[in-house]
Amino acid sequence: MLDKDSITANLQEQRLEFPGLTNKNYFNFGGQGTLPKAGLEAIVDAHNYLQQQGPFSGKVNSWIAKRSDLLRQEIAAELGVRSTTITITEDVTVGCNIALWGLDWQPGDHILLTDGEHPGIIAAVKELARRFQLEVSTCKLRETLNGGDPLAVIKSSLQPRTRLLVASHVLWNTGQVLPLEEISKYCHDNPITENPVLVLVDAAQSVGCLDLNLQELQVDFYAFTGHKWWCGPAGVGGLYVRPEVLESLHPTFIGWRGLEVDSQGYGIGWKPDGRRYEVATSAYPLYEGLRAAIAVHHQWGSPRRRYEQILELTGYLWQELRAIDSIICLKNTPPESGLVSFLVNGSLTPQKLVTALENQGFFLRTLLDPLCIRACVHYFTVPSEIEKLVQALKELI
Ligand SMILES: Cc1ncc(COP(=O)(O)O)c(C=O)c1O
Repeated sequence: MLDKDSITANLQEQRLEFPGLTNKNYFNFGGQGTLPKAGLEAIVDAHNYLQQQGPFSGKVNSWIAKRSDLLRQEIAAELGVRSTTITITEDVTVGCNIALWGLDWQPGDHILLTDGEHPGIIAAVKELARRFQLEVSTCKLRETLNGGDPLAVIKSSLQPRTRLLVASHVLWNTGQVLPLEEISKYCHDNPITENPVLVLVDAAQSVGCLDLNLQELQVDFYAFTGHKWWCGPAGVGGLYVRPEVLESLHPTFIGWRGLEVDSQGYGIGWKPDGRRYEVATSAYPLYEGLRAAIAVHHQWGSPRRRYEQILELTGYLWQELRAIDSIICLKNTPPESGLVSFLVNGSLTPQKLVTALENQGFFLRTLLDPLCIRACVHYFTVPSEIEKLVQALKELI
């Protein structure tokens, strides 16, 4: 049983940190998180500092380098890896593109996608395939949502020339969590392919939600963003590259930030770590915004505690939705992530329903494949918001 009173009491102060929560019932964290006050203040403070001390000066440049290091360290601590494995990017899609375009492709190589990938990533894979004459196929994981074995599906979809598996950790449409540790181990050491299969993970819906240890997962590339479940500002994300594959992933977009330079200032090689994929001037004050957002979550609880609370709350929403006759949750078992996707049998299309909900102050989104509505629940969502959403749905359908 959910202890609603104690959950709500434990969140009272934390919720005050998020101005975006005060005037609405927000269920779109998988689209973008609500920026905490401390995040916005850190961005403004950083801008002020840059103007006072620069904006271009020796002092500012070393401040930026130090603060960027701190961000890599704090991200790495959240993901259970060393900071040298982290590249700061703008978003998930840039991270995926760094991994996709940086491998040494040969005509005829094969990329395996799952059927739950984001359109932007699918488009990048297709263009890559066109450029380098690669084969692409898609394996059907959706049928394993309510039973079945995703690893078995992946196993049976590998081909002798498969070199890369592209898979989300949490599928953005159904909320299914893939068993990445088993998948990575199998891909690296399987009897089917000529070479080990590398694993590129779209972590848009897992970072800031699941309790993560990438070292254990053994994935090769893990592309994420700060602006969804971490509630950082839009424009800062990251990429983890497993140290064993760093040398085989070549930078594609290249600039001064990724270079080691000689005494004349000319590039003599790549930076020894994840910084080699960082390109040039960025909106550095946003880095401070993300650091502050991560710190706000930490003040409340560890990644494990946050994830456990997400599970309790998504479980509550899922159970309440299942009790409504005309609603079908895509998952037959309680959610394992912050996503709850459902279909509604009624006269309103999902888009009309989502618009009607938004007009009443409930923010959700539709997905096209499968056509459904998605509600995202964070650890600081309160049970009363869930109850109000369920009531609003009942009245609309
Ligand atoms: C699974 C998945 N991949 C990629 C993206 C795109 O994210 P970004 O805009 O950070 O690149 C999203 C955004 O919703 C997503 O859900």
